[in-house]
Amino acid sequence: TDPAIIRNFCIIAHIDHGKSTLADRMLHLTGVVSDRDMRAQYLDRMDIERERGITIKSQAVRMPWEFEGTNYALNMIDTPGHVDFTYEVSRSLAACEGALLLVDAAQGIEAQTLANLYLAMENDLTIIPVLNKIDLPAADPEKYAKELANLIGGDPEDVLLVSGKTGVGVEALLDRVTQMVPAPVGDVNAPARAMIFDSVYDAYRGVVTYVRMVDGSLKPREKIQMMSTRAVHELLEIGVSSPEPKPSKGLSVGEVGYLITGVKDVRQSKVGDTVTTSQKPAEEALPGYTDPKPMVFSGVYPIDGSDYPILRDALDKLKLSDAALNYEPETSVALGFGFRIGFLGLLHLEIITERLRREFDLDLIATAPSVIYEVTTDDKKTITVTNPSEFPGGKILEVREPVVKAAILAPKDYVGAIMELCQSRRGTLLGMEYFGEDRVELRYNIPLGEIVFDFFDHLKSRTQGYASLDYEPAGDQAADLVKVDILLQGEQVDAFSAIVHREKAYAYGVLMTERLKELIPRQQFEVPIQAAIGARIIARESIRAIRKDVLAKCYGGDISRKRKLLEKQKEGKKRMKMVGRVEVPQEAFIAALSGD
Ligand code: GTP
Repeated sequence: TDPAIIRNFCIIAHIDHGKSTLADRMLHLTGVVSDRDMRAQYLDRMDIERERGITIKSQAVRMPWEFEGTNYALNMIDTPGHVDFTYEVSRSLAACEGALLLVDAAQGIEAQTLANLYLAMENDLTIIPVLNKIDLPAADPEKYAKELANLIGGDPEDVLLVSGKTGVGVEALLDRVTQMVPAPVGDVNAPARAMIFDSVYDAYRGVVTYVRMVDGSLKPREKIQMMSTRAVHELLEIGVSSPEPKPSKGLSVGEVGYLITGVKDVRQSKVGDTVTTSQKPAEEALPGYTDPKPMVFSGVYPIDGSDYPILRDALDKLKLSDAALNYEPETSVALGFGFRIGFLGLLHLEIITERLRREFDLDLIATAPSVIYEVTTDDKKTITVTNPSEFPGGKILEVREPVVKAAILAPKDYVGAIMELCQSRRGTLLGMEYFGEDRVELRYNIPLGEIVFDFFDHLKSRTQGYASLDYEPAGDQAADLVKVDILLQGEQVDAFSAIVHREKAYAYGVLMTERLKELIPRQQFEVPIQAAIGARIIARESIRAIRKDVLAKCYGGDISRKRKLLEKQKEGKKRMKMVGRVEVPQEAFIAALSGD
């Protein structure tokens, strides 16, 4: 295909502003999906995506469009909208020349609208501002067109008004794309360079890799090489999605399509990597390859210990399609055998645990999410701690924690409530800016560890759901952090150790000791529950002793009833965990961890 008639674009939007609905409408309008095949959210293929209405994996579709007598090929690259997947968003953007900046006409600009816009600007994309959902009675296109034009520096009249739902304005939008988005440029004769912007695992076809050709071309049966690993694979199939895969004779400069090589694991075909040929390899990879780095860690344990092998197999399977998933075996006194899993963020954590539960029918318990700490001990050694139980004892010189730059957008009435929340989470205000008359953006530096712990829930409840949040890593900082241990009769219960700021250590200690006191049944002896920093006890409760004799109730009575009771007690014991001499029902740990 002649690059002059190619237009590569993506849609960037805040969650729920209607990106998928608009994408579906375009597929329909350009005729690539017939009425019969049209189903809601054609592009969101994963069940969880469809149920939650969020896009996790990006996909690319080629659509024909005629404008002023010329036939164009429009490549629409769908991008995930959530913060956890920023790296994938930015790779998708790098594959485009233009971006539709989609904003809900009843809501206006939100935190992810801004975050995605900045990414698009960094990639030098042509931005086309669009207000969506203008069919809504609450839509206020005039007000928000001004807001949008102000933001990107344009004329409110150039903001397109569309409805993905009714189709209004969508043809004009496609015309605008052909007019405004620049054609791709590249060197047809140079060694092949294709950028991987997505890689998905398909049970039948193995890994399907989505690429954007930058220079040269690729043809079926060629030997291709991944530039980061130098691994060579044979190109079994190459083609474009429209949106079903259509094999072709090759891809050339500016084109977007897919490759199949028969590899079985997405880690061999990583987002951001450059594909070249082994016959005529390119000298330099395209910019922008980084391994996705886990930011949040949690211990995940099967509630029924015999499910451990199922959990292990399930993780191995999920890893085939998720290059960002990291895990290693871990054991806990309280919870038994499980895995420590590294996630890109909280949504990633939620999606993975949900998929484990749903697709593999596993009952799981996850420990409180933790971030990565760098701890320097007295002998000047620095260790990386992702699990509080690895926190070194003895004298510590410094603890460093990751921080993020957070942007919170909300109606101005909530500024006070948001500031209070951010302050209580050790945030530092960086700046504040008004959008339109009534909305404010607050920018904060906040420790990531404070965000992973129910920050978003609090933000939503304090702003009646109006605030939106986006954040990006912003290095690390030294902080006065300590490890708080929870002890039952002097024995440490590993699953409850937490790394917290010194000022919050007491509150955490009190919370956990009180919670456990409620949850752990009385024993034959008194059980002290303590919270400690090192050897120093900072909070304590105790469970009074009882004499628990199940047979006392039916003295004299018939023997079969006695046996039943004894059996029942044995049954109960199986689910008991021993912490030193203390018997704790596993449910107590689970309830204490989930905070119910
Ligand atoms: P993510 O994939 O999570 O980023 O969401 P999205 O931006 O793709 O939003 P989606 O298309 O799933 O739409 C979100 C909600 O808005 C759905 O309930 C849609 O039915 C509704 N919606 C989308 N477009 C329109 C529109 O033009 N008008 C109206 N009235 N509702 C719309």
